[in-house]
Amino acid sequence: MTPGRVLLLPGDGIGPEVVAAARRVLELADPRLRFSERLVGAAALAAHGRPYDPDLIAVAREHDAILLGAVGDPHGQPAEVWELRPEAALFALREKLDLFLNLRPVTGRPSLVEGSTLNPEAVGGVDILIVRELVGGLYFGRKGVRGGTTYDECAYTPAQVERIARRAFALARSRGSVLHSIDKANILLTGRLWRDVVERLAGEHPDVSVEHMLVDNAALQLVRRPRSFDVLLTENLFGDILSDEAAAFAGGLGVLPSASLGEGPLGLYEPVHGSAPDIAGRGIANPVATILSGALMLRHSLGNEPAAVAIERAVDGVVEAGIATPDVGGDATTDEVTSAVVANVRGLRRAPA
Ligand code: IPM
Ligand code: MG
Repeated sequence: MTPGRVLLLPGDGIGPEVVAAARRVLELADPRLRFSERLVGAAALAAHGRPYDPDLIAVAREHDAILLGAVGDPHGQPAEVWELRPEAALFALREKLDLFLNLRPVTGRPSLVEGSTLNPEAVGGVDILIVRELVGGLYFGRKGVRGGTTYDECAYTPAQVERIARRAFALARSRGSVLHSIDKANILLTGRLWRDVVERLAGEHPDVSVEHMLVDNAALQLVRRPRSFDVLLTENLFGDILSDEAAAFAGGLGVLPSASLGEGPLGLYEPVHGSAPDIAGRGIANPVATILSGALMLRHSLGNEPAAVAIERAVDGVVEAGIATPDVGGDATTDEVTSAVVANVRGLRRAPA
């Protein structure tokens, strides 16, 4: 059977608006797709008193791909009980499905670069693939309070580093064959391990040029000379931070998609942005990141590269035409941007290049 079962998890804040927009585009780009939907995050807490249903992981496994909007408490209240945070749904999916490989492509599209606070000459034409480890490090280490001291443990096994590094080398080969590996090897043991493993794999990939960089320096070099980066490999927390920084080259978080993959084809796709409660329900959320996440889903989980390319080209056309939501300097609504993408996908289907 061709893979086409998609689980929609709209979540909180602007999540339902951007997921509905992506669904419209996906239904047109690949009419075989079948959608089901579940509540997660604060929406699930409000309805059922828990951030996700106990069978969510089993349900997810019955699908070929998951498209998530955003999770986060729209009222910004910290949860009293750790397990009852809205984010717990996201972490359960990442951890239980072992989605260790997080891909965050960052593209400097000309019309969005103009509105950037960075020098357009430096950021124009940026094309970076951030490869973030997603199920290890500080996020998933032991945490607690002991004798009045609060701690979060950062742990990585060699196998955890090796599996993601191998994927990053393969991705580098399929692109410009330049790999920047970011760590904090001068101070963290996990950073030392990271560097040793990547260095060993570099020996097996003489065709890929590898540069190790300390994370503080990487944060600076990214804004100084973003075009010198191609594939950027890093651990969980550094990847979280550097991907928000890199969003500035792409015109903001509203346009950055992501894919989270494991060993098999099942993947979780979501915009890099959060639930943006301040603009939820106003019809002005930027749907581009979620629509582009849908394209990544067609490519990596659903085996439909032509539909993925059609969506990406359709979005490029809309962005270049200046049809944009306020976060990227336009005055269009979510619906207007989505309708423009839909019209472009239709046009591309009629006249494939
Ligand atoms: C991201 C987000 C999440 C993370 C939050 C929502 C927990 O910032 O995917 O980048 O920190 O991983
Ligand atoms: Mg983040």
